[in-house]
Amino acid sequence: MGKIPCVDTVQSCQLTLIGTTNASVYEEFTYPHFRFLLQNLTPDVPVVGIGVELAGNPIGLALARYSPQVYGQILSLFVVPSHRSQGVGTALMARMETELQHRGCTEIEINYLTSSNSPALEGILSHQKWSTPKATALICYASTDRVEKTKQPHLTQYLDCLLANLPADYSLFPWNTLTNKEREEIAQQVETDTLVRRFNPFSEEKKLEPLNSLGLRYQNQVVGWIITHRTAPDTIRYTQMFVNPKSQPLSRSTLLLARAIQLQVENLPHTKGTFRVDIDNTPMVKFVHRRLKPYLDEIRYAWSATKVLS
Ligand SMILES: CC(C)(COP(=O)(O)OP(=O)(O)OC[C@H]1O[C@@H](n2cnc3c(N)ncnc32)[C@H](O)[C@@H]1OP(=O)(O)O)[C@@H](O)C(=O)NCCC(=O)NCCS
Repeated sequence: MGKIPCVDTVQSCQLTLIGTTNASVYEEFTYPHFRFLLQNLTPDVPVVGIGVELAGNPIGLALARYSPQVYGQILSLFVVPSHRSQGVGTALMARMETELQHRGCTEIEINYLTSSNSPALEGILSHQKWSTPKATALICYASTDRVEKTKQPHLTQYLDCLLANLPADYSLFPWNTLTNKEREEIAQQVETDTLVRRFNPFSEEKKLEPLNSLGLRYQNQVVGWIITHRTAPDTIRYTQMFVNPKSQPLSRSTLLLARAIQLQVENLPHTKGTFRVDIDNTPMVKFVHRRLKPYLDEIRYAWSATKVLS
């Protein structure tokens, strides 16, 4: 069967605000971690879901959350493959913008990862006069299999070399042996130091992976850490990597990273790893491209675009 012409599809579609009664049919149209938002779509919750139906069948969903009177964030936009490129995504986005504006939002944002769907999404953003998307981060995907298969012995040699050159008053330690006193000191720095707050080691502690969350001490002071989280039974996210600038040639942080990767490879065969590097972290972005690429299955870019609603 050929495609239904764009104009017919959009004109025959029905866009509706989703409430508690019709939410369940749209659940599969958003990411698993946002489904709970659809399950709680009462009028007092600052979340908007717009569903689109064709001949009574759901074919798409836009989901957003907002802080009243200020700012809205598009969380997901989806159209079933058989009805793509017919204007449905654009219609959903236009309606979402109107709904967010009615709720007092003056600025809206969308964050997304590069994928085969990016050209279509970027087409919509351009039609709807959003800002040109800006890259915000690299999202890196790795696997222990890939590290094992990579013939270059760089990682091990690099680690041996870094460890050999580490001055004697530096030492690595498992993060779960952090003392209470050290914890209190860092917690205080999180309050007062914006850099430490950005790399807060205490976020999501319930998911902390003890195997390869590590700290770095210099003369009995904690000056750095790599904090990892188990995000799925077979996946470790390398969430925070920080070394105090005073103790920081880049090699100190890459030492933490290399050791953490080595621990995963040695102890958890056939598992995966992910990490994110902010695009403004230039030394680390360069390090990923120059050194880590051979061990990575994939590097994707995270993008962000905004629109001011007048
Ligand atoms: C992104 C998505 C919602 C777009 O929905 P859609 O209904 O196909 O969008 P529209 O038809 O309204 O508009 C897409 C525009 O991009 C264009 N487009 C589609 N594929 C394209 C491609 N590969 N290259 C360039 N442009 C493309 C379309 O031609 C259209 O532009 P036009 O109106 O000038 O013809 C849909 O592809 C989708 O559900 N993807 C999976 C989920 C996803 O990735 N969502 C985005 C992140 S949350």
